[in-house]
This record gives sequence, structure tokens and C-alpha cells, in this order.
Amino acid sequence: MTSLFEPLTLGAIDMPHRVLMAPLTRMRATPPGDVPNALMQDYYVQRASAGLIVSEGTQISPEGKGYMDTPGIYNDEQVAGWRTITDAVHDAGGRIAAQLWHVGRVSHKSFHDGALPVSASSGPYRNRTTIRGEDGVPTRANCPIPRALELDEIPRVIEDYRRATVNARAAGFDLVEIHGAHGYLLHQFLAADSNLRTDSYGGSLENRARLMLEVTDAVVGAWSADRVGIRISPIGSFNGTEDPHGAEAGLYVAGELAQRNLAFLHLSEPDWAGGPELSDDYRRSLKAAHPGVIVGAGSYDAEKAARLLDAGLIDAAAFGRSFIANPDLPRRLAEGLPLNAPVADTFYGGDEAGYTDYPAHA
Ligand code: FNR
Repeated sequence: MTSLFEPLTLGAIDMPHRVLMAPLTRMRATPPGDVPNALMQDYYVQRASAGLIVSEGTQISPEGKGYMDTPGIYNDEQVAGWRTITDAVHDAGGRIAAQLWHVGRVSHKSFHDGALPVSASSGPYRNRTTIRGEDGVPTRANCPIPRALELDEIPRVIEDYRRATVNARAAGFDLVEIHGAHGYLLHQFLAADSNLRTDSYGGSLENRARLMLEVTDAVVGAWSADRVGIRISPIGSFNGTEDPHGAEAGLYVAGELAQRNLAFLHLSEPDWAGGPELSDDYRRSLKAAHPGVIVGAGSYDAEKAARLLDAGLIDAAAFGRSFIANPDLPRRLAEGLPLNAPVADTFYGGDEAGYTDYPAHA
């Protein structure tokens, strides 16, 4: 029987327990320039008892941005901002990974000087994102139909991931997590409904997975496999992307990623977002395809984590909303203490209210 409170080696790092903080976009970076700041530092330091903090999605390039006031990791000012955060998390005894993010079509012209967001294809598509409204407050807006990336632009996108990895290293992160989930760029390529390309990046499953795997290889090449994890959400509907062949795609990429000996595969499960609960059969197939570390996330509590750990179907669990509301979540889970309830109104954007003012247990 494996417990949530046993140590686990995750590639190059050792975690004292298996409770991770899931990546959580909070839209509080400093504009203009999307720079990580002192308020974000307070928030992450408060949560340094996580086995590993996975940072909020962090855009690898201006093109990769899709929401108001999300942080970047493509220039020196952003790297310096992150450096103060990673130093403070380390001083507090924690470990932190940067989630490398390119939103693809989940974006808006207002972030790109009026230019269209990019994607695998320029198909009809319905989704919304959060932009800066007239009065400066977050406002929901429809995402436009994107333009398809040209074949000769793809090496530049891969280079953006590589450079972001070099930057994450310079910023003092312990690991990087490639965001391959939730209907963002890499998922837009992987999913059959959003990828209508007829070149070597579209059509067959092998072709649709190509960008995700090439990005993984570039990121590994910029650091090393034991410093790299990847997040996928092959099943379910996220941000206007729903792959009719997602189950098969998930198993295929899990197998390909396993050959690369990454630090971990992070499985974002769909039930928290209105999707189906994953079956144990599917989990078993995924573990068989990827015998290395699997981190599960999505509607986890101590009981769900214990059951799946015991069954050998996951190796660790990441907690999202309960980590927003409980800065000392690992202790609360270990001691069976009551949890603060998260307040959804303050998830995205704003100040310290609903961000750094959730109390730790007395
Ligand atoms: C998220 N999630 C998320 N996932 C991701 O890969 N990158 C991100 O930046 C975000 N941002 C984000 C913001 C907010 C406010 C929420 C609620 C969720 C998904 C998150 O990591 C996690 O998978 C879900 O929250 C489900 O886990 P819980 O909350 O049920 O433990």
C-alpha cells in the first residue's frame, strides 16, 4: 500500500510526500509585460509545503498568451520576476516547476495587436477567454476563428518552447511542465476535431502527436529528461476542443513519452469540468503505456488519491481548488483537518482577496 504521505522521486527532485499543487491560472501578473510580482511570491511561498508546486500556465511567447495578466517567461524582466519567486519558495523549503504554455486559438486579437491567434487549423470554433475590459476589469470575450500555423512557422514555435526552458532554468525552477492539455496549442494539434491539417502535422495520430513530441524533445534537449514533465487531458471537453479519439491519443502519447523517461506524466482528468469519470480500465492501460510516474489531477480528495495510489494507477496527486483555499493543504490532508472552501469569484484576476488571504489552520 502506497500512501500520499510517502516520499517520491520525481525525476531530478525528491518530494517528501505526494501532494502536488496543480497549475492554476490566477491572472495577477503585473501589466504591461506580464511580469511575475511580489504578490505572486507571497501566494507561492504560502504553498511551499506542496511536494511540488506546478506554476500557473506561463506563456512561452507573446503569441502564446490568451488571458489577461497571465505571466510570461520569454524575456529578462519576467525571468528576474520568477527568480525572486523560486528563491523564496526554495528558502521556504519548497520545489516549483514552470508550466510552459502556448494557448493557440484560446486567445483574442486584443493580445496580439489585432492579429489572429494561431492554431493547427482555421476551422469553425466556439470558445471564450478573459480579456481586459474597457474599465480594466476582466471581461469574457469570444475567441476568433484562428489562422492555421504555416508549416515553416512550426520550427519557430518549437524554438519558443526551447528558449522558455532555458529561461525557466535561469529563473531557478526545479522542473518544467509542458502544458499539453485543456484544448491549448499542443492539444489542438493532437485532437482530431481541431487538427484538419494535411501536412506532416495532421491526419494520422502519429502526425497529430508530432508537435507535442517534437516540443518535448526540444525541451528535454534544453535541460534533461529528469527535469521535464508533461500534462495531458486526452479525454473530455476543454476550451472548445474535444477529441473523438482522445482515449486512443492519450495511450499513444503516453507510450511515446514513456520512451523519453520524463520526470512525470500529469493526467488532467475531465470530471471536475463536467466530463466523465475515468475508468480504472483506462487508468490501467495508461499506466501500462507509461510505467513511469503518473500524477493524477481533477476532483481529488484524500480518499480518491488513496484508492488510486493503492491500486498502483497513479503515483501522486495534484490538487487545484483545494490548494487555492488551503495554503497548508498537505498538513490538512495528513491530519484530517477541515478544509477552507474556495471562492470562485476571486479565482481569476484581482488582488490579495481570495489569493493570499486564505488562512492556514491554527
Ligand atoms: C485551473 N487548471 C489549470 N490547468 C492547467 O494545466 N494550467 C492552468 O493554468 C490552470 N489554471 C486553472 C485555474 C483555475 C482557477 C482552476 C480552477 C483550474 C486546472 C487545474 O490544474 C486542475 O486540473 C483542476 O482545478 C481540477 O483539480 P481540482 O480543482 O478538482 O483539484
